[in-house]
Amino acid sequence: MLHLVCLLLLLLSATLVHAWIQYPPNGFATMTHYSLPQDYVASCGCTPSSTHFPTAALSQMAFGSSTAYGPACGRCFNLTLLNTFLSDPPFYPSVVKSVVIKVTDLCPISSDWCTATESKPNQAGNYLNFDLAFPSPSIPSDFFPSNATLYGYTDFGVWNISYASVSCNTSWAGASDAAAVGSVTSLSTSGCCPADPTGSANDTCPSYSDNNGIPPNTGTSDAKSRVALYTPALIITLTQALLISL
Ligand SMILES: *[C@@H]1O[C@H](CO)[C@@H](O)[C@H](O)[C@H]1NC(C)=O
Ligand SMILES: *[C@@H]1O[C@H](CO)[C@@H](O)[C@H](O)[C@H]1NC(C)=O
Ligand SMILES: *[C@@H]1O[C@H](CO)[C@@H](O)[C@H](O)[C@H]1NC(C)=O
Ligand SMILES: *[C@@H]1O[C@H](CO)[C@@H](O)[C@H](O)[C@H]1NC(C)=O
Ligand SMILES: *[C@@H]1O[C@H](CO)[C@@H](O)[C@H](O)[C@H]1NC(C)=O
Repeated sequence: MLHLVCLLLLLLSATLVHAWIQYPPNGFATMTHYSLPQDYVASCGCTPSSTHFPTAALSQMAFGSSTAYGPACGRCFNLTLLNTFLSDPPFYPSVVKSVVIKVTDLCPISSDWCTATESKPNQAGNYLNFDLAFPSPSIPSDFFPSNATLYGYTDFGVWNISYASVSCNTSWAGASDAAAVGSVTSLSTSGCCPADPTGSANDTCPSYSDNNGIPPNTGTSDAKSRVALYTPALIITLTQALLISL
C-alpha cells in the first residue's frame, strides 16, 4: 500500500512538472521576434520551405513540450499588433498590422518573454509569447510600425498583440505550397508538423517530452514509423527511485 502511494506521488509530481498552459483560441499575448535562418528545420521538424512563409516559435509551456514537437506544432494564428509598452511613452500605431503565422518552433522557457507557466504569466501579464521569425522573405521589412522621430529607434522588441486561432489551410500563406506543408521525411530528424491541426488526436502532435505514444499521422511517411521513446524509461526511473527511497 505504501509502495502504491509512493508511486502515485512520484507519478503525480512527474505530471505536475508538465503542467502545460491551456489557452483559449483567441486572446492577448506578447510578440517578440527572432532570427530563423531560411530553410532551417526548427523544433517541430516542419519542412525547410515552411521558412519561406510566416512562422513563429511559441512559448514553451503553451507549446506543450520541452523539446522537439508539441501540440502547438503546425497551428496557425492571426497575430495583430496592438501597442508597445516598454517604450516611453507606449506606442499605439495608427495602422492595424496582422500576420498569419504557423507555429514551427519552441521558444524555451529560459528565454526572456517565454517564461510564463500555468501559475505565473510573463512580465507583461500574458501566458503566451509568439516569437516571430523576422526578418522573413514573406513579411515586409516595414511590418512593425514605428515612429523614429519620436523614439529615435524603430525596433520596439516586444509588442502587446491579440491572437486568433485560424485554419492554416484557408489562412496561412504557405498552405498552397506543398513543399512548405508537413514535416521533414528524414528518419534521423523526427518531426511532427501537421498541415492544419484541429486539436483532435489524429491530426495534432503529442508532447514529445511527455511522449504518450506514437505521434499522429502528419501527412508524411516518417510520422508512422516513430516510436515512444520516453515512457518505458520514465517508468523504470520512477520504479528505481521508489525502490531506493524505501
Ligand atoms: C487578422 O486580424 C485582422 C485584425 O483583426 C483582420 O483584419 C484580418 O482579416 C484577420 N485575418 C485573418 C486571415 O483572419
Ligand atoms: C494589451 O492590450 C489589451 C487590449 O487593448 C490591454 O487590455 C492590455 O492592457 C495591453 N497590455 C499591455 C501590456 O500593454
Ligand atoms: C510621431 O510622433 C510625433 C510626436 O508625437 C507625431 O507628431 C507624428 O505624427 C508621429 N508620426 C507618426 C508616423 O506616427
Ligand atoms: C488541410 O490540407 C491538407 C492538405 O495539405 C489536408 O491533408 C488536410 O486534411 C486539411 N485539413 C483540414 C482540417 O482541412
Ligand atoms: C480525425 O477524427 C475526426 C473525428 O474525431 C474525423 O472527423 C476526422 O476526419 C479525422 N481526421 C483524419 C485526418 O483522420
